[in-house]
Amino acid sequence: MDYKVFLRKKEICKICTCGFSKKMPLCDESPRVINEKEGTNYKSLKITPEEDVSLNFSSGAWNDEQKKSFDSI
Ligand code: FES
Repeated sequence: MDYKVFLRKKEICKICTCGFSKKMPLCDESPRVINEKEGTNYKSLKITPEEDVSLNFSSGAWNDEQKKSFDSI
């Protein structure tokens, strides 16, 4: 699935890389809980555009199966 995001000039945007966010494709800080419980080291991807821009994001890490496993943690 692709997500289109409008990014504003000079505003930091955190993109989820773990696949557990409930606000895809944005990071919702889920790794704080997951990393503590599971001993993982998930981090978001931080983007600061130099001008206003719309981008499409997709990742193989974003799937329903992974979200379900987080719901049970
Ligand atoms: S929620 Fe996935 S990296 Fe933040």
